[in-house]
Amino acid sequence: DEWKEKGAAVRVRTETDANGRPISKVLKKGVKDFNFGRTLGEGSYSTVLAATDRQTLREYAIKVLDKRHIIKEKKVKYVNIEKDTLNRLTEHPGIVRLYYTFQDERSLYFVLDLASNGELLGVLKKLGSFDEECTRFYGAQILDSIAYMHSKGVIHRDLKPENVLLDTQMHVKITDFGTAKILDTRPQQNGSGSFAGDPLDGAEVDRAMSFVGTAEYVSPELLTDKNACKASDLWAFGCIIYQLLAGRPPFKAANEYQTFQKIVGLDYQFPREFPVVARDLVERLLVLDPAKRLPIEHIKNHQFFEGVTWGTGLWKQRAPRIK
Ligand code: ADE
Repeated sequence: DEWKEKGAAVRVRTETDANGRPISKVLKKGVKDFNFGRTLGEGSYSTVLAATDRQTLREYAIKVLDKRHIIKEKKVKYVNIEKDTLNRLTEHPGIVRLYYTFQDERSLYFVLDLASNGELLGVLKKLGSFDEECTRFYGAQILDSIAYMHSKGVIHRDLKPENVLLDTQMHVKITDFGTAKILDTRPQQNGSGSFAGDPLDGAEVDRAMSFVGTAEYVSPELLTDKNACKASDLWAFGCIIYQLLAGRPPFKAANEYQTFQKIVGLDYQFPREFPVVARDLVERLLVLDPAKRLPIEHIKNHQFFEGVTWGTGLWKQRAPRIK
């Protein structure tokens, strides 16, 4: 009962009865509706497989989660967060879309967009680093996706090049919302004032915090105040822009503790050849105080993104050849 489905995606088939009258049957997709193929990725309690819908021949990525393992490891909350956030983020080309969920005795299944070109990290590792044109294009698609998720009240909290996937067109698909945070979008209460005037736009304290993202991209406020806000995703975005151009993340050390020390001390350097305009942008993102980090609208207007068409046009564009 823990996995009770609400508002599950279904398809409706209309048939005619013996009298020629149409009858609608609601059919829920299940394991039997797909042919499973190669393994695309493996996590600690899930596996992502390529799969084809037997009827439509459409290809998907299906995330298979082991129920027993999830319960044993106390990850039920994270699985529900992933499903709930993906169900909020269905109208943007830069975010992996959740089409159906179903289950059998052993597993939960999330039917997702297939991003057939894999992780941005893989492409970056093959190339070493990106030039400014590629960084501008991928940076713009990532930022446009962040703007959308923030507009829907979702903070990703674990943005990094492994979680930026690429589809057949080499366009961005952000994935892995298992550690996202849904902001309370309840209307503000009048009188008591207990929800009013939040300066960080929903940066409420997550007291029972057990999650801390990936060391290299963690924001300083998460380390010092145990508190993530929308601007925490923009810190990670600054780390990603730096990494695309430099070939390595800005804060990297022998172990997590030393990485965290570098982050809270803003201890990083730019390589000599780092482009000046990109450097200015990164310096305005890697700011310790989240309230002083450049907000999304200002990032879009920064000189580094000059010439970018924001909005739907960004997703109709051909990806630059990576070089
Ligand atoms: N690996 C993890 N999720 C994936 C997806 N949706 N498409 C391709 N590879 C993946």
